[in-house]
Amino acid sequence: MNYNTFFDRHIQTLKDSGHYRYFLEVSKSAQHFPKFYFQDAEGVKRSAINWCSNDYLAQSVHEEVISKLSFAANRAGVGSGGTRNISGTTTYHKELEDTLAKLHHKEGALLFSGAYLANLTTLATLGKLIPNLIFISDERNHASMVEGMKASKNQKIIFRHNDVTHLEEILNSMPADKPKVIVFESVYSIKGTIAPVKEIVSLAKRFNCLTYIDEVHAVGLYGEDGGGITSLNDVQSEIDIINGTLAKGFGVIGGYIAANQNIIDAIRSFGSGFIFTTSLPPAMCAAAIKSIQLVQGNPELRNHYHQQIKLLRQILSLNEVSFLHNESHITNIPIGDPSLCRKIANKLLHEFGIYIQPVFYPTVPQGEECLRITLTTRHTQHQMEMLAQGLRTVLEELIPIKHKAITHG
Ligand SMILES: Cc1ncc(COP(=O)(O)O)c(C=O)c1O
Repeated sequence: MNYNTFFDRHIQTLKDSGHYRYFLEVSKSAQHFPKFYFQDAEGVKRSAINWCSNDYLAQSVHEEVISKLSFAANRAGVGSGGTRNISGTTTYHKELEDTLAKLHHKEGALLFSGAYLANLTTLATLGKLIPNLIFISDERNHASMVEGMKASKNQKIIFRHNDVTHLEEILNSMPADKPKVIVFESVYSIKGTIAPVKEIVSLAKRFNCLTYIDEVHAVGLYGEDGGGITSLNDVQSEIDIINGTLAKGFGVIGGYIAANQNIIDAIRSFGSGFIFTTSLPPAMCAAAIKSIQLVQGNPELRNHYHQQIKLLRQILSLNEVSFLHNESHITNIPIGDPSLCRKIANKLLHEFGIYIQPVFYPTVPQGEECLRITLTTRHTQHQMEMLAQGLRTVLEELIPIKHKAITHG
């Protein structure tokens, strides 16, 4: 076998299908965020506004978070130098886990390098530990959860997205004595739909299921204290395992689960993706603690953010830019074709200084390619107006009929 030819062909097929991923090299500016700099194909330095960052609350560029990071790095050095078991548990790690447990009203929390690893490890470990555990999973669950469920080879049943009637049907058809876990997200990252958390919790109680929720796109953003959709609905204590990230609403890096002490201890003791890897840098933990404290104690920031989302949507509507209706902060403009999606994004970037990374397979199923717009607390009304005008011009030029056909709520 000629391995090089093999990979070359594979990549060529991907390019031909329009699904090849091109990364824009962003020169990020803490001072000017969401404005950033990049070099165009001719090597000319240009600037653009970032409309696809998940740094929703701009915590990655918050002065106090940055100061805390450099203070702690000066004190503790950069890397932790070990796995959690072998000298890699510092006072910062413990303090961060305590902070997260309190945020989610849980007995404990467990840190991972990212929420991807937290999902994968926890679900795979649950599957291995609980004999005959059945996963009951929302069809739109993130790749990290899908991989975690796959890794344990347990039975998996999929329910239609956010469809509690279908979930109930499935639960009714299952043997009552079999252990089950309902696996779902609170805010779905691409379409921005929000799970009917209360209904799912009540079905879980009725059918004696464990519940596992991914709050990655909700922590920091929803609930009085920023604890996510479970906080907003006051069901934190009724959900068994809450997964979250430190990398989006909190602007740093790392992921975690929060749960009761026995579950935390089981994953800590048996989860391969927790045990066999170097722990997060201590200074990152210190920065994350600072960021959580700032976000948790600032409901005004959240209120302001949600007001700005409303404003953005009003401005888009005024400019006849259609988007999917949802109750979250994620604004999705369906395009439905990968090459067209890329063409639109390229034009927006190079002619209007608007950066929206096109989303396509495998992030979404084929045919659901879209532009996913995310607002941060640093975007101004003027920037929103520039975005809407740029989108209107480009969409009308490249998909005049289709653009008009999409309805928005
Ligand atoms: C729903 C969801 N869960 C988990 C993750 C992984 O989070 P992290 O970036 O912390 O690994 C992501 C994306 O980053 C996500 O969108």
